[in-house]
Amino acid sequence: MTPAKSRFAPGTLGHAVDQGAADLAAAGIDTARLDARLLTAHVLGRDASFVLTHPETELTTAQQDAAQNLIARRAAHEPVSRILGEREFWSLTFRVTAATLTPRPETETLVEDALARIRAMDREGEVLRILDLGTGTGCLLLAVLSELPRAEGLGIDISPDAVAVAADNAQRLSLGARARFQVGDWTAGLSGPFDVILSNPPYIAEADRGTLPPEVLGFDPHGALFAGSEGLDAYAAIAPQAAKILAPGGIVILELGQGQEAAVAEIFRRAGLIPDGTRADLAGIPRSFAAIAGGG
Ligand SMILES: C[S@@+](CC[C@H](N)C(=O)[O-])C[C@H]1O[C@@H](n2cnc3c(N)ncnc32)[C@H](O)[C@@H]1O
Repeated sequence: MTPAKSRFAPGTLGHAVDQGAADLAAAGIDTARLDARLLTAHVLGRDASFVLTHPETELTTAQQDAAQNLIARRAAHEPVSRILGEREFWSLTFRVTAATLTPRPETETLVEDALARIRAMDREGEVLRILDLGTGTGCLLLAVLSELPRAEGLGIDISPDAVAVAADNAQRLSLGARARFQVGDWTAGLSGPFDVILSNPPYIAEADRGTLPPEVLGFDPHGALFAGSEGLDAYAAIAPQAAKILAPGGIVILELGQGQEAAVAEIFRRAGLIPDGTRADLAGIPRSFAAIAGGG
């Protein structure tokens, strides 16, 4: 640890944040000061804004040690969300663990897409049956259910530990009465029909493993990331299964990796579904892909 320049006295919150920010910057963390604020404030059970308004707060030795411990974990590239054990998605708080992908902001594009489509069909007041494949924390299903008071959902994941986290998140968000979670290999054993299928499947090509930042490669579960040589294996598995269990006129909405829209549309067309466009994320990247079952 290189001693940081700080205008605050040693032992104060302001000093701990200055020291933490210096350590994180030295470790190559781009968001060093913000992360130091979040982590140090967390030790006090406060949010980051407390650091700005109360920098003179004296820390006990135990609090200083705890803050240093969290800073050391972040310096080793553990994401802040994993250190805190939670992440915000769709303005809801989700518990995250080593078994779950940390929800990403761009995945909110699928929630927007699903809600816009359901509202355009004037179906938001119906008892819709929603299936979320590869549910992880349950963030997609639970965000959509939070907006549709009569809808019911089932979340599937191949990881029993992820399923347990998703079920816990449903309880914490008071959505447990309308959301069930179970272990499964995509739709195996399910008969449907479902009105809406959501999925953010693994879609990273094995060859791109080396391009991932340490925060992702070292801390997200690999079963949530990789999907064969081109990143398309999960779409290829899901498409024919979705075609079998969608209700007539039902929709499947999937997250896309960058540049995958044409290949994914072709996979779903071949499975007998009708591709129905994409929705871009805030960076302008087509992120959400929809296909419709005929006969509606
Ligand atoms: C990219 S993560 C998405 C997690 C969450 N839905 C989200 O958007 O943050 C993909 C998820 O698919 C799950 N998964 C991978 N293969 C699966 C399979 N064959 N059947 C069911 N789930 C699977 C992984 O365990 C992981 O939780």
